[in-house]
Amino acid sequence: MEEKFQHLIERVKEVHGGETYVITTHGCQMNEHDSEKIKTLLNTMGFKEIDREEEADLAIINTCSVRHSAEDKVIGHIGRLKHIKKQNKDLKVAVCGCMMQRKESRDYVLNTFNHVDIVFGTNNIYRLPQLILESDDKKNAVVDIDESYTNFDNQIYSRTAGNAAYVNIVYGCNNFCTYCIVPYTRGREVSREPEDILDEIKNLVADGVNEVTLLGQNVNSYGKNLEEKITFAELLRMVHEVEGIERIHFTTSHPKDMSDDLIACYKDLPKLANYLHLPVQSGSNRVLKMMNRHYTREDYFTLIDKVRAVRPDISLSTDIMVGFPGETEEDFEDTLDLVKRVKYDNAFTFIYSRREGTRADKMENQVPKDVKDARFQRLLDAVYTIQREKYEALHGTVQEVLFESVSKNDPTKMSGRTAGFKLVHAPYDADSIGKMVPVKITGGNTFSLEGEIVHGKQ
Ligand code: 5AD
Ligand code: SF4
Repeated sequence: MEEKFQHLIERVKEVHGGETYVITTHGCQMNEHDSEKIKTLLNTMGFKEIDREEEADLAIINTCSVRHSAEDKVIGHIGRLKHIKKQNKDLKVAVCGCMMQRKESRDYVLNTFNHVDIVFGTNNIYRLPQLILESDDKKNAVVDIDESYTNFDNQIYSRTAGNAAYVNIVYGCNNFCTYCIVPYTRGREVSREPEDILDEIKNLVADGVNEVTLLGQNVNSYGKNLEEKITFAELLRMVHEVEGIERIHFTTSHPKDMSDDLIACYKDLPKLANYLHLPVQSGSNRVLKMMNRHYTREDYFTLIDKVRAVRPDISLSTDIMVGFPGETEEDFEDTLDLVKRVKYDNAFTFIYSRREGTRADKMENQVPKDVKDARFQRLLDAVYTIQREKYEALHGTVQEVLFESVSKNDPTKMSGRTAGFKLVHAPYDADSIGKMVPVKITGGNTFSLEGEIVHGKQ
């Protein structure tokens, strides 16, 4: 396959080298990383990334299905491209990602929009060179979807600039939480061989990376389907040994698979970031059961206590949903109570969205929109109040900040993250980019902190 793949890349380069593209990414880090892979492929084939679809030769939309609103955004975007294509006639339109893995959404896009040229899925990104060539000779859309994952990550190591990189360790999901579309889009769990992961990380280090985020829908169940059994905790210990890596993150975790050995990693591995994202979804045992989550709120509190016992100042974040079918006022108050007890540094909050094909979509007692909206507002208030307190508690302290880049909104500043993953802005200093630097926190709240580098301490 490798030789044929290289040959295809060369062929596309001959025909399309020098052309331009715009890529738009919806959804989670998994999708962000997939977009990095697509960019790497396109750049290798001589394409150049630009900002404006009006001037591009290729527009790619990497889609998400997790909530109805995410799909609506994509449909709106594809619709706008129809008008752009009227002016920019040579524009090729490609749609990929989770939405295209679902037959219903894919058929909807193909039947509604005849200006889409290429459709591919999450499992066959490496086919893009072939698909570009095929679409050159075809008027109708070229469609290519695979149900199961073909690993090409060992052939092309993908990342965009900077000192931080994502590394896939497990693809797909076996959990079937009753609200979730992911098992129907990204398919069953497949773990990557540890040697391949370590090779990629060493390669990234050689390329200037010192911070990695290990990615999977459920990293805690890493290794279960490999011939030579290995746990996620064992993999973390191996990654920790890689020279040049200074900080390790992982996302996302499932509380039911959070082992004592993984918790021990927070004690044993100093490079493991002082941060844990542990989605709870609900604080009500009745709702957790209907969600098929396999833990109770008491189990969750026990996990948090164990983690805090080994890392007392760890930053905690979570995903929480309101308005799951059948959620009562009492259930919702259990969620508010859990939020106030755990005191998250950061929480991603969602309004339950019906997803066709999932078990929750067929449940009776769907919660009316006005009730969901009101609960969501109350949840946000609780989350932000705590978050603000957590951020403000750092004022006056010195934090080790790993600076990543110039700040998006203010070119006189640079941004980085504390070990607890809190965003910090400080006056720009070229020498500090990509480095871990002590910073005195001087201000900021709720979403980001302000600080100044402490000189003469290193
Ligand atoms: N509706 C709302 N939120 C959802 N999530 C997953 N499925 C749904 C849905 N149907 C949320 C969960 C998950 C996060 C990535 O998105 O909280 O952890
Ligand atoms: Fe990520 Fe899930 Fe959205 Fe796919 S559907 S992009 S896996 S959040």
